Amino acid sequence: MSPHLVTTPWQSTGGDWLIVGVTEPPNFAGNLKSLDDALGGRLTRLRELGDLTGKLAELVAVRDASPLAAKRVLLVGLGKPEELTLPRYERALLTAVRHISEKKCGELAIALEAPSGSKLSTSGLAQTATFAATVGGVGQGLFKTEASRFPFGDVSLVVGSGAKTADLTGAANCGHILGESVNVVRELVNQPAGDLYPESFAQRAKELAADFGLGCGVFDKNWLKQERMGCMLAVGQASDRPPRLVVLEYDGAPNDSRRIAFVGKGVTFDSGGLSLKTNDNMLTMKCDMAGAATVLGALIAVARLKLPVNVSGYMGLVENMVNGNSYKLGDVLRSRAGITVEVNNTDAEGRLVLSDVLRYAVDEGADRLIDLATLTGSCVVALGEDVAGAFTNDQAWCDDVLSAAKRSGEEVWQLPMFDHYAEQLKSDVADVKNTGTRWGGAITAAKFLEKFVDKRPWVHLDIAGPAFAASSKAHREGGGTGALTRTLVEVASAFK
Ligand code: BES
Ligand code: MN
Ligand code: ZN
Repeated sequence: MSPHLVTTPWQSTGGDWLIVGVTEPPNFAGNLKSLDDALGGRLTRLRELGDLTGKLAELVAVRDASPLAAKRVLLVGLGKPEELTLPRYERALLTAVRHISEKKCGELAIALEAPSGSKLSTSGLAQTATFAATVGGVGQGLFKTEASRFPFGDVSLVVGSGAKTADLTGAANCGHILGESVNVVRELVNQPAGDLYPESFAQRAKELAADFGLGCGVFDKNWLKQERMGCMLAVGQASDRPPRLVVLEYDGAPNDSRRIAFVGKGVTFDSGGLSLKTNDNMLTMKCDMAGAATVLGALIAVARLKLPVNVSGYMGLVENMVNGNSYKLGDVLRSRAGITVEVNNTDAEGRLVLSDVLRYAVDEGADRLIDLATLTGSCVVALGEDVAGAFTNDQAWCDDVLSAAKRSGEEVWQLPMFDHYAEQLKSDVADVKNTGTRWGGAITAAKFLEKFVDKRPWVHLDIAGPAFAASSKAHREGGGTGALTRTLVEVASAFK
């Protein structure tokens, strides 16, 4: 259910929980003063005890909140007001919401007020709060007999009576739509490979596309053969699950407007192929379709927000397995672009899939491309688990993507694309080989992809780190994260 606005005073706002932000140090003025007064000075006493400091993401629960209308209040620290940013606010709110969603909560109210001394707009807070309430109510326990996390029945934002409610409602709605898209991505990533394979993923994409008015084409192995996608086919040829290419289309602008293409790596399971992964490295490889899931999630949000742009989504879905028909080291593949590729390592399969799908997007007339892929462990070594790598052949387009990421509060860092990196990919028998040395592995992977985009403005986002979280933290659930979904939507929304 969509969140809605209420304009009641905080102390007379009902619900199972009321979330209230407190800055560091706690400043009891205005609404917070009225709340403290209604509670007979209880907040002041908590501050004097040193239990309420307002440090970022600190939680203090007031469980017997009578005589307030709400049953319970959760005070959440926002840190120093001059340091408050939307990402910090999001972290605080997610921590609060995730604390509450461990038990069933019918009605959640969030008191919305930009703290004095902060530069944040109330509409930014509204979008962030509904995003947090939507994402924080959903866990990864898809198969748990007893649920360990519960979505909220009803979410309201408590705003001042003089607030511009139309703006705030729009912002709240946008946060909710983004949150639901992130949840779709998380769910797809969390689905085990036994359940989510190219056909079932394509089927799910088709259903979601129909729900949200996106065009959707699903293409099978024979079609891929006709379209000469030799690299993608080789990766999938040892699997009992045949590959699929899914093409999504959203037309929000006149036909002659420039079109963005989002291209996603959709390896539904990456065993490594004959270059078999170790148990430890294979353990989380159901996540290797996160790029494709992100493309789907982003297009759903673009459609629901009715953005005035044309966007296509391409999802290359394939399972990288081992059998008597596996593609082999030393094999030479012919890509759609006509470039021949010597296989040095069957575990460098993502770039093979993307090479054909990127080229298909180029052939279909994409003016600007962004691909998303859990592509290399090297990128995680370089940037850590929480930051995506960006690579480009067109700095202006990359700057657009980086600034969209910044506005979305997502962490992306650009890595260089010097020509000499491509020397590692020279082959004695074919035009190129699919791996270089260990050194700069995220970059050589990007240099490989660059050969297939025909100089069209393109940004590659390596999300091997941020797409999947090994463990839960107070502010986010382990498993699929939906990282970069919001950045893609923001790119589309700023596209001219
Ligand atoms: N899917 C993996 C990359 C990956 C690693 C994703 C860790 C998420 C977390 C990719 O297909 C892969 O195996 N890459 C190899 C490339 C190497 C063989 C050149 C890698 O990173 O080791
Ligand atoms: Mn691999
Ligand atoms: Zn992979």
